Amino acid sequence: MSFTRRQVLGGLASLAVVGVGAGGARWWLGRPVIAAEHDYELIAAPLDIELIPGHVTPALTYNGRFPGQEIRVRQGEWLRVRFTNHLGQPTTIHWHGIRLPIAMDGVPFISQAPVLPGESFVYQFKTPDAGSYWYHPHVASSEQLGRGLEGPLIVEEREPTGFAHEMTLCLKNWHVDKDGAFTAFSIPREAARVGTLGRLTTVNGQHAPVIELAAGAIVRLRILNVDNTATYRLNLPGVEARIYALDGHPVEPRPFEEEYLLGPGMRIDLAYKVPPAGTTVSLRNGPLRLATLGSVDQGTHTTEWPRPLPANPVSEPDLATAETLAFRFEWVATLAGDPGNCGKAMYWQINGQAGGEHKEGVEHPPLAKLTLGKSYIFEFRNMAQYLHPVHLHGLTFKVLSSDRHRIIPYFTDTYLLGKNETARVALVADNPGKWMLHCHVIDHMETGLMGTIEVS
Ligand code: C2O
Ligand code: CU
Ligand code: CU
Repeated sequence: MSFTRRQVLGGLASLAVVGVGAGGARWWLGRPVIAAEHDYELIAAPLDIELIPGHVTPALTYNGRFPGQEIRVRQGEWLRVRFTNHLGQPTTIHWHGIRLPIAMDGVPFISQAPVLPGESFVYQFKTPDAGSYWYHPHVASSEQLGRGLEGPLIVEEREPTGFAHEMTLCLKNWHVDKDGAFTAFSIPREAARVGTLGRLTTVNGQHAPVIELAAGAIVRLRILNVDNTATYRLNLPGVEARIYALDGHPVEPRPFEEEYLLGPGMRIDLAYKVPPAGTTVSLRNGPLRLATLGSVDQGTHTTEWPRPLPANPVSEPDLATAETLAFRFEWVATLAGDPGNCGKAMYWQINGQAGGEHKEGVEHPPLAKLTLGKSYIFEFRNMAQYLHPVHLHGLTFKVLSSDRHRIIPYFTDTYLLGKNETARVALVADNPGKWMLHCHVIDHMETGLMGTIEVS
């Protein structure tokens, strides 16, 4: 099934039923009150879901579904989300990739106090950049994301694009056993290496689903990696597809031919030419099938590749005046439990500092202080063999170069730093605040690979 824009909006008007969760509560949810103003009501609550046929998994979800409700807003407009926490623990929502005021960034004790059980918080901000983004908590992340608190946030372009059809695909490997029970979200031995991997591969919450698309149409596939740990080696063998955007931001369209490494937190927008009716194609992770893309007859479609997506209004860094700052991502032998991290052991450091999730009353000094309005080059160095999807909040940076592969410069919020790689990225420090810089492998983030960049 593929959606036209109207069908997507119409679909949101329906009522969702949230099943009986671990707390035994049953919530009935309405859809945004005034759709035109992008008002949403979002509720985080326990929900029993069926990931493995015949078995129940005690998930946590947004608005009673996984992936969480797809939030859509038009570029440049206000998004208002009234969020209510019906979990048994504090939480926040972070809007991954969105350039917004620090008070709306969802980081506990920097942006806001955690939203306690039973409390509500209104997030409201303008959405300057079009593209595929997502939202998730920034509290107890390995568990809260691990149990299913993730949802897509789609910022539509101001003007219609050349795409008549689109589909959002959220990739996640669940930490469950064969009976659907959760296994550990974070194992110390794994946290110190690649990160704790889930075992059940899913696309939109289903293992190896068949996704029907309109034969002959060109569909915008928005592929989001909402997983805690896994980097997917995405490939679509034997098909015609082009890359239109990376991590939300448009690129000059180019053929999607080889594997693309999509690390945790990252997104890719593809134009996919659906083959004739009856053909099936595999969306794969390396040699493994993630989903089958089917093809059904739904009339005729334009077969012209859409024009490139319009660029987002991200400031171009001035490389001539930019100051260079180096960030080393290092593995360290187990450090004693860090009192600032609830005694959790630390295995990682950025520039000699190990920082975990933010706790009340624990202030780590920023990794760097930037002057508002100035341009900077960040040099990211991976001192170890494990991949780090390096993510920065509140600011969008331009990837300039790498010592491992050829880079066609592009804007992003997350750069997948490979084994022993050094990469250079640049940005204009045009958004004041204390912004998280962290690895999006949640295990790495919680055991040291997290710090802040202060812009003032
Ligand atoms: Cu998806 Cu701190 O971010
Ligand atoms: Cu983020
Ligand atoms: Cu990492």
